[in-house]
Amino acid sequence: MSESLSRRDFLARSALAAGALAAGCRRREPPPPPATAAPPVPPAGRPQADGLDPLPYAYDALEPVIDARTMEIHYSRHHAGYASNYHAAVEGTRWEEMPLESVLADLHAVPEDIRTVARNHGGGLFNHTLFWAVMAPPAERTPGPLVARAIGEAFGSFDVFQAAFRHAALGQFGSGWAWLMVNDERELEVTSTPNQDNPLMSGVAERTGIPVLGLDVWEHAYYLHYQNRRADYADAWWRVVNWPEVERRYATAVQAPMV
Ligand SMILES: [Fe+2]
Repeated sequence: MSESLSRRDFLARSALAAGALAAGCRRREPPPPPATAAPPVPPAGRPQADGLDPLPYAYDALEPVIDARTMEIHYSRHHAGYASNYHAAVEGTRWEEMPLESVLADLHAVPEDIRTVARNHGGGLFNHTLFWAVMAPPAERTPGPLVARAIGEAFGSFDVFQAAFRHAALGQFGSGWAWLMVNDERELEVTSTPNQDNPLMSGVAERTGIPVLGLDVWEHAYYLHYQNRRADYADAWWRVVNWPEVERRYATAVQAPMV
């Protein structure tokens, strides 16, 4: 097995183990309900768009950091659009049932006629599913012990890490994402990607690894409330980071077996 293939397998398997891919990232084909069945009812307060898992919280749950209207449009239109376009592209191919992480980790294996859709819309599906999970209603939360120690080892201090993340978020020209990831050396690293790329994408992303925290810096994520003030959005966003979820993802990512 080649080194690159081993690393791609590691990325995909680690991301799967980390639970970076929620069920909503997979094509879900429930059996057709009987004609008399009532439509599914999402958990109270948790919006659900067609074909997607419910949002982990209500649209207004992240206010005042992220406003309800932005969340509604972001989840029910942007995220839903990525999901439907991705699923439509892979339908009927052997990539249809493949975990999304595995597809993204080896995009060059995807047929050329659907590769761009897999990259852009599959990436968008993965990225947004992670994004919702690593946020929670505003609260005073701090990194868990494993992540706190790893941040100290990688950056020297939490302040230095935050500054690096801020730099990545603000320095990403145009649309994209800032990431905290477990890199190939199993160390925490900050990086950014354009558009809907992410660190899983071997041969695409400049730096690869398992993302454990991501910030969407597309204007659709903040423009209604912050307009052009991306810095204000990025600074306020720390109040909604779901550090327990980041801890869980980190712990799983670094413990995944190297193949
Ligand atoms: Fe987005």
